[in-house]
Amino acid sequence: MAKSRVGLWLIGAKGGVASTAVLGLLALKKGLVGSAGLVSELPQLARLDLAAWDQFVVAGHEIRRVPLADEAMRMARESRHPVLPGVVDQCQSELEEIDRRIRPGTTLGVGNTITALADWFPRGADCQSAQSNKSKACPSETPRQAIARLKDDMAEFARRENLTDVIVVNVSSTEPTFDASKLPLAWADLEPQLDTASLPASSLYAIAAFELGYSYINFTPSLGESPSAIDELARLRGACHYGCDGKTGETLMKSVLAPMFARRNLEVLSWVGHNIFGNMDGRVLDDPANKRAKVASKDHLIGDILGYRPNTLVSIEYLPDLGDWKTAWDHIHFAGFLGVPMTLQFIWQGCDSLLAAPLVLDLVRLTEFAHRGGHAGQMPFLASFFKSPYGVAEQCFDRQFTTLEAWANAHSRP
Ligand SMILES: NC(=O)c1ccc[n+]([C@@H]2O[C@H](COP(=O)([O-])OP(=O)(O)OC[C@H]3O[C@@H](n4cnc5c(N)ncnc54)[C@H](O)[C@@H]3O)[C@@H](O)[C@H]2O)c1
Repeated sequence: MAKSRVGLWLIGAKGGVASTAVLGLLALKKGLVGSAGLVSELPQLARLDLAAWDQFVVAGHEIRRVPLADEAMRMARESRHPVLPGVVDQCQSELEEIDRRIRPGTTLGVGNTITALADWFPRGADCQSAQSNKSKACPSETPRQAIARLKDDMAEFARRENLTDVIVVNVSSTEPTFDASKLPLAWADLEPQLDTASLPASSLYAIAAFELGYSYINFTPSLGESPSAIDELARLRGACHYGCDGKTGETLMKSVLAPMFARRNLEVLSWVGHNIFGNMDGRVLDDPANKRAKVASKDHLIGDILGYRPNTLVSIEYLPDLGDWKTAWDHIHFAGFLGVPMTLQFIWQGCDSLLAAPLVLDLVRLTEFAHRGGHAGQMPFLASFFKSPYGVAEQCFDRQFTTLEAWANAHSRP
């Protein structure tokens, strides 16, 4: 029997994380790379009936016209790994094929900085004023119309490619923070407001996915599917979802190290983390409105793990010359026996998109498996992948990972 085909629909399909994930997937399909960095390839998950890499078909939404292969090559060069540009060359025709499936997204509710990146709009849309005045989103669609168009794009992909399921992953730019407290709690109350609601794009994509019964992963700190009315829609349509904000570098270190201080009864007096990087995500996060969402997502862990709130500071600075290489310097001041103050400092230097891309592929595989098994709604067993996992108070990486292992054991082949 032919193997089923599964869709991976990327929101922000030509960004650093997306193009690296696509390149990684193609390289895995061709056997050009090994499994380092992939959680779903760990022995603990080996008895899960996960889809094989060659079952995945990729498409997505984007707001920039640039060719996907150019972005993949840029990321490969920025990684400074001598082999990666050659991998892009070997995947050229597949990258072009995926590029032809990418559709123009929506900039509704994304704020000025992200709107200014956009140079690609849906055909027939009255976007002249958006192109000449970068402070305005494409004005011709209401949120309801945008949802209908995004939904059509995803459904057409599934039909044309004969897919059994589609997993939508939001890897688009971080939107400004959104106050969701005034949104209705029930889907039946939010749905009638879609003609005028000021929901950000990340939520419109989620609604489009859920209306089709497709699952949605929010790899960003944007609002996405987190409002309870949208979570309810997911459950009503039998879709899975989870987020938010992939835990890939400095925050991963925090969730490993803070439990050590807690378990040795060492009092953390202050924890300062300075992050510098130069990719497009860094450019967007340079806008204080967008940065707020990221800082909040990176900052809450320490207090959550320790049970008290030491002085913490998170800074994120954009230095274009660093490209995709992020440096985080963390200074942890703590009190030992007899109150003697001591210091731990660490420096994390990581290639941002190469840390994130394998997790995107893992999340897609695990979500598809959970959905195939009848799961709907949030997936708290995926908490270890996220900085701010929905509905999970536990922030210790080790304990979160134990939950993933327990879930895997419960769903493994004998
Ligand atoms: N290690 C990591 O790289 C990491 C870790 C955790 C979270 N994230 C988050 O993942 C997201 C992607 O990161 P990145 O480094 O790839 O950023 P990026 O800026 O390289 O890519 C974002 C892409 O999204 C596109 N985009 C923006 N708004 C859109 C919209 N409304 N619809 C469709 N496309 C849109 C942009 O054009 C761009 O191609 C960011 O929100 C980032 O904060 C990244």
